[in-house]
This record gives sequence, structure tokens and C-alpha cells, in this order.
Amino acid sequence: MIIAGNWKMFRGPDPHALVGLDAIVCPPYTRLRDCVEAGLTTYAQNVHWEPEGAYTGEISAPMLLELGVTGSLVGHSERRQYFGETDETVAGRTRAALEAGLNVIACVGETLEERERGETDDVLRRQLSVLEPHPNLVLAYEPVWAIGTGRTATPEMAQEAHELIKSLIDAPVLYGGSVKPDNAATLLAQPAVDGALVGGASLDVDSFTAICQAAARIPS
Ligand code: PGA
Repeated sequence: MIIAGNWKMFRGPDPHALVGLDAIVCPPYTRLRDCVEAGLTTYAQNVHWEPEGAYTGEISAPMLLELGVTGSLVGHSERRQYFGETDETVAGRTRAALEAGLNVIACVGETLEERERGETDDVLRRQLSVLEPHPNLVLAYEPVWAIGTGRTATPEMAQEAHELIKSLIDAPVLYGGSVKPDNAATLLAQPAVDGALVGGASLDVDSFTAICQAAARIPS
């Protein structure tokens, strides 16, 4: 089971309080060093497709590696929604990060309108069509309507989407979208769910710890 905490643009908890948890943390860039120094497995929330260049505001894979960061999220729906991230830029970022030696968690997922129009499968197929399997690539299925809304996909919905994703790319698939201590065990018990990408609940040490403990109880 892989549990990753995405702190988004929040300061997040004291990294020392997370030492010993079997988890990945994805803090904002300004807190990467603190997390690395505390000994946590630390991923960035984004990474650029070039190693260096005139790209104000961006951070590259070699820069992250120099800090001791071992991976990055790519293609989070908030990047796609607010910052113009496209399937092509997601593909470029993923390829560059993997080639540089970072691990990648690439995020996919449909919006509420797309689900209601019955387009979930088409959206996932399109988003995944630009990605290739790689030993260091993990995918995260994050239905946009479940992120930060308190609305979680049912375990059956997650299982169905994960099965489709796995049929297209052979990689572990995390579920993300309002994962909390009280729903983690049922979601993680689905056979095609290989872990969780946790936003809001990763900001609180107790709830993140409880989710990691729920994951540890799932037989592998
Ligand atoms: P959430 O966020 O757990 O707060 O819904 C998940 C994510 O965006 O990765």
C-alpha cells in the first residue's frame, strides 16, 4: 500500500511528527528541505519538463534531486483546472521526471459533468493515452468532484475506474478524493486500489496517521 499526503498550498504539519510513518509527503516547495531533513520520503507537487531554462516560477527534476527529493506529483486536477496543465504538458513533465530518476505519481480523473455525461471512461483513456508504463510511475485516480468536497467515490466506483486504468497502463493506482480515517479502510480494501493520495486529511497528524494505520492493516 502506498499512502501519499498532498499538502497543497498549506504549511502542513511538523515533519518530525510524521517520522516512522510508512508514507510519502508532498509538501509545498518551501517545505521540501524540512521534510527531507526529517528523513521523510518527500515528493514535490509538480516538476518541469526541462532540466533548466527560462521558465520563471518552475522547478526542474535535477533541482529536486539536488535537495534529496525522490519524486513528484504530476497533473493534479488543480494544476489542470487553474494553471492550464494539459495532457501534453503532463506527459512532458512525467517523461522528464522519470528520465531524471524521480518517481512520479501522475493524476487522472473526470469532472462531475464528465461523469454525468457518461464520459468517465473516455476521459481516463484520453488522459492516459500520453503516458507509458515505467517502473517508477504510479497513477492516482482522483475524480475531480471528490477532491476537497467531502464526497468520496463509492468503493465500487473506485474499483471500476482503477480496473480500467490498470487495463490501459500496468502501474499501481492510488485513489484520491476526500479520503478520511473513516472511509480509508473500505476504499483501500478494493482489490484494484493500491493506496491513497490524501489531501485535507494529511494536514492533521492524527488523521494522516490513522489512514496509514488503516493501510497497514490491509493484507497485501
Ligand atoms: P482531498 O484532496 O483529500 O482533500 O480531497 C486529494 C487531492 O487533491 O490529492
